[in-house]
Amino acid sequence: MPTFQFLNQRRPGRLLWPALTAVIGCLALASAVAQTATPAAGAAVQSPTYLRDILPIFMGNCSRCHNQQSRFVYNWLDYKTAFADRWEIRRRVWDSYQGSYYKEAMPIANSPESQALTDEDRLTIRNWVNGGGLRGVEPSADGPKTKVERIALGRRLFAICAACHQPTGRGLPNLFPPLAGSDFLNADKNRAIKLILHGRQGEVVVNGMKYNNNMPSFPLSDQDVANVLTFVYNSFGNSGLEVTPEEVKGQRALPAEPAAAPAAKSIFE
Ligand code: HEC
Ligand code: HEC
Repeated sequence: MPTFQFLNQRRPGRLLWPALTAVIGCLALASAVAQTATPAAGAAVQSPTYLRDILPIFMGNCSRCHNQQSRFVYNWLDYKTAFADRWEIRRRVWDSYQGSYYKEAMPIANSPESQALTDEDRLTIRNWVNGGGLRGVEPSADGPKTKVERIALGRRLFAICAACHQPTGRGLPNLFPPLAGSDFLNADKNRAIKLILHGRQGEVVVNGMKYNNNMPSFPLSDQDVANVLTFVYNSFGNSGLEVTPEEVKGQRALPAEPAAAPAAKSIFE
């Protein structure tokens, strides 16, 4: 798709951008090839891609309802599903939000996710759809070499967790348990790894408070799980442990904890 690449690399000025994105959107629609093409190296700054920009937003803000286990709503953590329904996603997070589309904005009103979804997130989703819904490339398999690098990468991934556990890591009463100074987290590293890999549902007591809710599992690589957990362990007054991709790999091979997110409890219940 040379035309698309060409347009895309011109870095148009601010005023031209809306017009151009519309053109790019049409071009991309017209060509099924463009939709699965991996962006050129230089395209990194321009068009958002699913793997790099969109998936983290969906994991944090949509996954409690739209996940691998959901039976009644789509799983946005799957590229094909999200790509196929991308115009409806755009309408819900952008047009509904701006009041020009009659159906309810997503995430649903008053959910913690709707409060966590920023204007920047909404714009990124809109631009991703307009730009042809590119998948992008898997992040490099080369992991960080030091704990400090691991923490820096994990800090970025924490955006996923912050939608529920809050940017402060303190959680929300009755809904999302705290990661800050969590006795549950600090007591057992392997259990924490498994929890990220498989999700969790049921009663859990954290720092003396009861929670009974559902944390979905996330399609994160061994590196990602190691990075985000190392960040969490080294923030919010936690124990300072490091988690390595090897440890995550080891836990992935083992069966899930009994409380792992089971066949979805319907969100309509
Ligand atoms: C608290 C639960 C919840 C969250 C969080 C949530 N959704 Fe939904 N979503 C639903 C339910 C329930 C429906 C089905 C009812 C409806 O269509 O309004 C739905 C439907 C949709 C639809 C319509 C699908 C179709 O083709 O009919 C889209 C698009 C959508 N959601 C996108 C999102 C996106 C994107 C996010 C995250 C930014 C999100 N939702 C977060 C519960 C949720
Ligand atoms: C969609 C909301 C949501 C997201 C996003 C989320 N969690 Fe959770 N998390 C929960 C819920 C709800 C529970 C309690 C589950 C239960 O009741 O069994 C939980 C429990 C936990 C626990 C065990 C209890 C505690 O507080 O120590 C840890 C650790 C944890 N989450 C870490 C994370 C990390 C790290 C991320 C980001 C990769 C993350 N969570 C993303 C909702 C979420």
